[in-house]
Amino acid sequence: MLKGVRTQSPAELLAQVRAHGRVPRHIAIIMDGNGRWARERFMPRTFGHRSGMTSVRDVIEGSIEAGIEYLSLFAFSQENWDRPADEVGALMSLLEEYVEREADELHSAGVCVRVLGDLTRLTAAAGEAVGRVTGRTARNDRLILNLFISYGSRDEIVRAARALATDVVEGRLAVDDIDADRLGARLYTAGCPDPDLLVRTSGEQRISNFLLWQLAYSELYLSPVLWPDFTRSDLYDAILSFQARERRFGRVSV
Ligand code: IPE
Ligand code: IPE
Ligand code: MG
Repeated sequence: MLKGVRTQSPAELLAQVRAHGRVPRHIAIIMDGNGRWARERFMPRTFGHRSGMTSVRDVIEGSIEAGIEYLSLFAFSQENWDRPADEVGALMSLLEEYVEREADELHSAGVCVRVLGDLTRLTAAAGEAVGRVTGRTARNDRLILNLFISYGSRDEIVRAARALATDVVEGRLAVDDIDADRLGARLYTAGCPDPDLLVRTSGEQRISNFLLWQLAYSELYLSPVLWPDFTRSDLYDAILSFQARERRFGRVSV
């Protein structure tokens, strides 16, 4: 729905979501469109990234209200390292600022923060900030928040394949015992149910190397809204759309 023409309040939308009963356990979001949002305002791209943090906060709160168990946010891809150095630097600083500033609130809201990706590439300060918030919130269970940073799905699968190959070579695993569950257990997302719903903002219609394995049977919701304009109401629209669908997993309707 376009901004400004919404007729229902967030509370009304939430009531509709709740009235339906079944909410997705796990929602994954490709948070896209920060650069275009800034350009529309004749501002630098980093202004869009900063503004997008407000949407992150609202969507986390909205997810808790709706009873979502897992929220996965794609914040920075491995390919994003190839952006101009000043943009990458600004994104690392924003990440550090975000986790430092939000840590108290996330912790008191019962959010367990996990950060998934190749964290060896983060700046030392960002890496330390991430370590602090994940350690501090590790025992929370109201909402599991997966932040994907320096993440690429093909690389994740390659790492899993290497780990399985090492197990075989070292005699811990037989080749015939390799199956989908064992591979899934070697991904960053081990132990997490697959996303029920994938949201991508900004009108793009692609996966961009996000959770290629885990999205096998996720429902897709492509929103035209640019990420800094995305609110919990947009999230509730996505959930309402999900609730109206029939998931068949390759079988036939009953
Ligand atoms: C998403 O917004 C944030 C990141 C990928 C870090 P973009 O920066 O990709 O914004 P657009 O797609 O250029 O508008
Ligand atoms: C995907 O967005 C990555 C994140 C949202 C973090 P991109 O803007 O990097 O993806 P492409 O380049 O449009 O595919
Ligand atoms: Mg983009």
